[in-house]
Amino acid sequence: MDLDKIDVTSQPPTEEPARQYYFMAKCRARLKEFEQKNGRLPKACVTTFGCQMNARDSEKMAGILECIGYQMTESEEADFVLYNTCTVRENANNKVYGRLGTLHNYKKKNPQMLIALCGCMMQEESVVRKLKESYRFVDLVFGTHNIYKFAELIAGAYEADSMLVEIWQETDTIVEDLPVERKYFFKSGVNIMFGCNNFCSYCIVPYVRGRERSREPEEIIREIEKLAADGVVEVMLLGQNVNSYGKNLKNPISFAALLQKIEQVEGIERIRFMTSHPKDLSDELIAVMGRSKKICKHMHLPLQSGSDRILKIMNRHYDKAHYLQLVEKLRAAVPDIAITTDIIVGFPGETEEDFLETLDVVRSVRYDSAFTFLYSKRTGTPAAAMEEQVPEAVAKERFDRLLAQVQTIAAAQAKAYTGQTLPVLVEQVNVQDASLVSGRLSNNSIVHFPGNADMIGTFVDVTLEECKGFYYLGRKCEEKNPQE
Ligand code: 5AD
Ligand code: SF4
Repeated sequence: MDLDKIDVTSQPPTEEPARQYYFMAKCRARLKEFEQKNGRLPKACVTTFGCQMNARDSEKMAGILECIGYQMTESEEADFVLYNTCTVRENANNKVYGRLGTLHNYKKKNPQMLIALCGCMMQEESVVRKLKESYRFVDLVFGTHNIYKFAELIAGAYEADSMLVEIWQETDTIVEDLPVERKYFFKSGVNIMFGCNNFCSYCIVPYVRGRERSREPEEIIREIEKLAADGVVEVMLLGQNVNSYGKNLKNPISFAALLQKIEQVEGIERIRFMTSHPKDLSDELIAVMGRSKKICKHMHLPLQSGSDRILKIMNRHYDKAHYLQLVEKLRAAVPDIAITTDIIVGFPGETEEDFLETLDVVRSVRYDSAFTFLYSKRTGTPAAAMEEQVPEAVAKERFDRLLAQVQTIAAAQAKAYTGQTLPVLVEQVNVQDASLVSGRLSNNSIVHFPGNADMIGTFVDVTLEECKGFYYLGRKCEEKNPQE
């Protein structure tokens, strides 16, 4: 789309994405003036908190910032700083408040700086109230539902003389075909659905991300074909619960069927996805994974708790036995599959017996890695109102025991691969040692080995020489990989 051809003196179009391109052209004209006045390009920085969904949203917003004329930078001492926030646990919110002070100091030095906040945390009324009261130097606040209007919001912030706040409670619109600035040229996240309908009793996501909406399969395939043509070899399909993808479309389709379509896209070598909910993980999906050459040997399957009693109060809709059965089926269909998980410790009412059930699942499954979280009370969720909140010291003690167990098992799991030669998709030159490059195995493990920047984005067969706990040191294998 050629922004210079857009007539910004006319009324903005009402349809999307044309409307956003109109506002991009408008912003671009303004930034040209900035360049003339200041004798330099304006700089923008996007900082992402939280999950892969946010990371993908940030790529979309960076795409718009770049398109309108900002030079992207890693430094927050910039002319436009955007924080894409997370609110899944309380400490995510605290991090943002903590860093806003620093941004304020930068703004005092550069009064034309604009500070924008968006994402999940902004969907909470108490947060917006606090920003309006105590953080009045913030220029633009928007949520999760109107990110596609970013260009229009920036244009509004340029004109506004006080904080511009635009939070929507819900949307059913999915706007395709806006610019995106990918962080990696060879891999990309792809949203397949938005929102969540599960209402796990501890979780704030359904309140801040809204109801579940799936993208049309044709749109997803079209995007992936374009990515492949642009050099992408690995896609990560994103959704809060990918296993329920497509159920609410006019022409329903299963996640497994979508995967089979994506497999046919030429140029795509690896397909990842997250997150899977155990209650919706189908035999069809397991069978498709078993047959696939492209779907990565990795399943992230959040357990949350191993206690049937707690799982019920969490509103998870599965029990320990069902979960263990899924793991068994996955391992039978995909030998060598890495299984990872999320676990919450200290959910209201959790007893020592409940916790031991969780430890028991950890020992039976033998996770390749696990994210462990201390339960965090999120206002507005059912769990926040539950009596019997677990004392912090008790939760912390359980957390430490869990972590020790998870780490011991993960290290042992990883060690089993030592000596094997496996394809690594090289991602970057190693940050600590420039003679090494770093990449990932199909099972998502990280491997460092001697190499150079030319290897980035390519697959290299690497012999895993030494296991360092959760990563490997390896060496490029000169012979053909016998496993291929
Ligand atoms: N407290 C602690 N952890 C939580 N998660 C979600 N909500 C909470 C909460 N209130 C964890 C879950 C989820 C992961 C993304 O974050 O384990 O799978
Ligand atoms: Fe939160 Fe549960 Fe939805 Fe995951 S599935 S986002 S934990 S409500």
